[in-house]
Amino acid sequence: MEHLPGFREFFPEPIPSGEAWSAAVREHLFERWHAVARRYGFQLYDGPPVEPLELYTAKSGAEIAGQLYHFTDKGGREVSLRPEMTPTVARMVAARERHYKKPLKWYSIPQLFRYERQQKGRLREHFQLNADIFGETNTAADAELIALLIDLLRAFGLSSEDFVIRLSSRNVWQDFYRRHGNSPDRAYDFFQVVDKLERNDPAQSDATLRELGLSLEAVRAFIAQGAPTVELQAVLDNLAARGLAEFVRVDYTVIRGLAYYTGIVYEAFDRHGKFRAIAGGGRYDELVTLVSGGRSNVPAAGFAIGDVVLTELLKERGKLPAIGERLDAYLMIEDESRRGESLSLLQRLRDAGMVVDFSLTPAKPDKQFKRAQEAGAAFTLALDAQLRVRVRHLATREEAILPHEGVETHLRSKLA
Ligand code: HAM
Repeated sequence: MEHLPGFREFFPEPIPSGEAWSAAVREHLFERWHAVARRYGFQLYDGPPVEPLELYTAKSGAEIAGQLYHFTDKGGREVSLRPEMTPTVARMVAARERHYKKPLKWYSIPQLFRYERQQKGRLREHFQLNADIFGETNTAADAELIALLIDLLRAFGLSSEDFVIRLSSRNVWQDFYRRHGNSPDRAYDFFQVVDKLERNDPAQSDATLRELGLSLEAVRAFIAQGAPTVELQAVLDNLAARGLAEFVRVDYTVIRGLAYYTGIVYEAFDRHGKFRAIAGGGRYDELVTLVSGGRSNVPAAGFAIGDVVLTELLKERGKLPAIGERLDAYLMIEDESRRGESLSLLQRLRDAGMVVDFSLTPAKPDKQFKRAQEAGAAFTLALDAQLRVRVRHLATREEAILPHEGVETHLRSKLA
């Protein structure tokens, strides 16, 4: 039986050819993401993978609402797998914000589900690192988030030649629409046209814009002039002071598809424009108020970076390290009468934190040795007739005969 389209299976290294994804590569991404987020003072949170359907139908906008994996549960509740993390974290903050000192800097790495049309870089399940700051309206929070996003990408060896953050603001487009549009209540329809400008048929975009009293030409001219507003200049200056100016540029084609954004927005793209967006986010000062029915008012800003496009990009740029099985030692049992003593040594080394494997059942010594090599073991160990340990360093072929107690120190000195 096949897995569902748009879902992935993550295999151990070395991964089988074809469509297989690497569990070790995924772990590599997560480890770096955790480390960088913590360096910025962000704290880990998590939420439920299944949520009430209405959390999304009201808050995320039409695009995500059309992609929900939703169903009626056995208690008759309308529920959905989470397509994004932002409504969940907004609700968590609304309920518990008084417990914490502001601003809150929170991050999470959820798996998300969207019933999308499958294409390169877009699947029906993916992981995201979400980072959000709550309780701070100053653009310093937006700049801090963008700096974090830049470092989440630099952590993999990507440079300003590989990616760029395209910075924009809903305020800019809100103003533009207020000045030129003819139906004040259709601002979100207008945002959707701008969001899809690069993907949709120009004639179709122009037709919708004309209904709104605008034209494709006017919108394109506005994008082309592209001067930063005071708000965006403050973010650019903040990033320049950190030495990160080369990673950002103002680009008003970015407006973001989700309904809840209220101010600064941005997306990360590869410089060659070959991939879908790597990351996206912005300010959403009204979402906490909305999900709490007005009981809590906390301004917010944040972004999410996905694992699918990033993995594709790192693969293409040769930035993934050779990830394989790595054992400190492989314990060979050359004589089955020594299995008991061997298990005792095995346990001692594992207790000491060493990565050690062995053959679960009797096997010829040359087979065990081959397995040690395949597993990338640094050493083989074997008990001799006097139950001393024969340690062999596979790279140098150096051998030593040691008592059990001396093995750990010997391995550590060589591994260092
Ligand atoms: P988003 O732009 O929908 O934003 O998703 C962020 C990133 O997740 C995208 O740039 C992309 O890399 C990845 N992504 C999204 N959908 C898929 C998919 N179907 N397959 C693979 N990767 C995907 C949000 O989700 C906002 N909630 C981000 C945010 C956090 N805003 C404020 N805080």
